[in-house]
Amino acid sequence: MKFPKEFLWGGATAANQCEGAWNEDGKGASIQDYMPHGIMQGPSEVIDKHNLKLEGIDLYHHYKEDIALFAEMGFKVYRMSIAWSRIFPNGDDEKPNEKGLEFYDNVFDECKKYGIEPLVTLSHYETPYHLAKKYDGWRSRDLIGFYEKYVRTVFTRYKGKVHYWITFNEINSIWHFPLMGAGILTQKNLLKAQDLYQAAHHELVASALATKIGHEIDSENKIGCMVLGLTSYPRTCNPDDVIATMEESKRGYFFTDIHMRGYYPSYALKMMEKEGVVLDATDEDLEMLKNTCDFLSFSYYMSKCIASNPEQYEKGKGNLTTGVKNPYLQESQWGWQIDPKGLRYLLNTYYDRYQKPLFIVENGLGAKDTLLSEEKDGYWVEDDYRIQYMNDHLAQVSKAIEDDGVEVMGYTSWGCIDLISASTAEMKKRYGFIYVDRNNDGTGTFKRYKKKSFYWYKNVIETNGKIIS
Ligand code: BG6
Repeated sequence: MKFPKEFLWGGATAANQCEGAWNEDGKGASIQDYMPHGIMQGPSEVIDKHNLKLEGIDLYHHYKEDIALFAEMGFKVYRMSIAWSRIFPNGDDEKPNEKGLEFYDNVFDECKKYGIEPLVTLSHYETPYHLAKKYDGWRSRDLIGFYEKYVRTVFTRYKGKVHYWITFNEINSIWHFPLMGAGILTQKNLLKAQDLYQAAHHELVASALATKIGHEIDSENKIGCMVLGLTSYPRTCNPDDVIATMEESKRGYFFTDIHMRGYYPSYALKMMEKEGVVLDATDEDLEMLKNTCDFLSFSYYMSKCIASNPEQYEKGKGNLTTGVKNPYLQESQWGWQIDPKGLRYLLNTYYDRYQKPLFIVENGLGAKDTLLSEEKDGYWVEDDYRIQYMNDHLAQVSKAIEDDGVEVMGYTSWGCIDLISASTAEMKKRYGFIYVDRNNDGTGTFKRYKKKSFYWYKNVIETNGKIIS
């Protein structure tokens, strides 16, 4: 298998799932500190000390050790997020928190030491809690100004240290989980289409504004949007299923089209019209949207099937959104259907549509791992299933590049070090090349152990993907 010489190999994490130190050095609470059960139950009223994210995997105090391990695997890039509430504890503060800024200076300096490029997500499901409580998150236009101040602060502070940025993680998740995606505390069933489209509009304007500011502050900056990438197949060749799939895809393209083309496409205007939405979009907003992204990045874990009569089929499980089950696919221990070819398909569809570079910034297998009783050939977990999963996905990435001519900038596997799951807020669903001794009941030493996949991925990077089969 072949990959371009400059291909950015690496791994990805998010602050709220790994840093811990939730209230250290002046950090304010984020919505995640009030979500002890992920998306499985609503938010808590007060901080629940059983919330595993409060301590995460304590990367805040282990970052040197962790980045050294990433470097040992040969990472060219490390995708991570800045916790907004570490910089602006409430989100609407006058001044940034210097201690928070220093922490990321240290992280970026450590990356630089090993020649690792940071790829920074500005907002990864971790809106400051105060903004959720006081403004109902992105439903309020005020959030654009608070986000502007935050991104201006970090673009300026980290100029020259960071060149790759992502404005929002999985921005399309607002349709499914408005609290996680847009910091909206009002329960989803009480929200109208008008509320969701308006909040999405505020995020889209903020994203375009960040792209503009980021380019102005440093013309070397490459700024991307990011969506939850889901391949949708019609369940059958019945034209009704095909049309239902087309309708579903429009919701998927809504965010990438606006980010990559710079305007609301005609189908989006129709969608809003049909749903009775009258968007409050000023001329300045629409002008701002013209600041399109340099690259499109996305997560990919699974595909789904769409049927016009879904009740006739078994429902699939999945990452924030689901369809009906695909009878041709195997599934993970969490019921997510594994589909490497769907990744090649998705890369092709995005590239055909935009002809802009693509970046796979999340992919991986969440599985239960067992720590061996003793070290074997340098590793402590025999995770052949993870190696197989990633090998098969990377083989399809290579085909998209080599056979189809798709421009792919890089690949950062999700949870390169075990961390707390976003949807279920648990530890036992592990994605990493590095095992972290922490359990669902909160016990554990935080000690790091290499898995078999650690050496496999090191070899993948060393050979620039030649060992993928
Ligand atoms: C993506 C998120 O949706 O999926 C990550 O961007 C998340 O934050 C990942 O962790 C995997 O999902 P989960 O629920 O298995 O952690």
